[in-house]
Amino acid sequence: MQQAREWIQSAASVAVLTGAGISAESGIPTFRGPGGVWRSFRPEELATPQAFARDPKLVWEWYDWRRGLIAEAQPNAGHHALAELEARAARFTLITQNVDGLHDRAGSRNILKLHGDIWNVRCQSCGRERRDLRPKLPELPPRCDCGGLLRPGVVWFGEALPPEVWERAEAAAGAAEVLLVAGTSAVVYPAAGLVPYARQAGAKVIEVNVDETAFSHLVDCSLRGPAGQILPRLIS
Ligand code: OAD
Repeated sequence: MQQAREWIQSAASVAVLTGAGISAESGIPTFRGPGGVWRSFRPEELATPQAFARDPKLVWEWYDWRRGLIAEAQPNAGHHALAELEARAARFTLITQNVDGLHDRAGSRNILKLHGDIWNVRCQSCGRERRDLRPKLPELPPRCDCGGLLRPGVVWFGEALPPEVWERAEAAAGAAEVLLVAGTSAVVYPAAGLVPYARQAGAKVIEVNVDETAFSHLVDCSLRGPAGQILPRLIS
């Protein structure tokens, strides 16, 4: 822990990659942990364009459930620690796979949302994307003013990440002196690829996770425990 703390303190540029685990202590179930299975569906069965084409109401019911949970949740000490780190670091980029917006609410600013934002909705007919912050939508699936079907403004399995966001994430990971990886199983690509990419480019990689991951043996420092406890200590 002490060594990792020193790497962070002395780094001119820090990048962070977060996943669902950082929001677990806010009460939002992770995808592959307890509570991740909703009505017996795994995320890979619902978060796809094919699932939406087959049954948009079902997919929307899952997002509606998640939006409801997220609306009730508060950012936790892990989110706040990262916002504090950003305020101190010379160069800082927060790359997140999360769509819940809790990093924004904790005060983080330079956020790259690789998988979009659950509070955005996009029309499948006219392509218009807008915010809709209502935790419960009056009608599922929701419709655009043009009459088209609205979908969540997130990235699904099999879809490309927003190219500009991805380019900026790669640049930040490639230029970082430290990459902090918190609360992700790091099994979903291309996001997970940022970990070896940063390491090959010379970054010290620090992992914070309650469990071992596929990358634990590859990183420079693997810290085991809840992000809400470890991250505040790491930046203190
Ligand atoms: P996962 O559910 O795959 O992994 C969550 C990780 O967080 C696991 O490694 C847990 O051990 C860890 N974890 C749980 N609680 C924690 C805590 N309190 N502190 C620290 N770590 C904790 O979630 P992601 O890695 O985010 O994509 O999943 C990646 C992507 O797969 C998601 O963005 C989503 C999903 O399907 C799409 O929907 C495209």
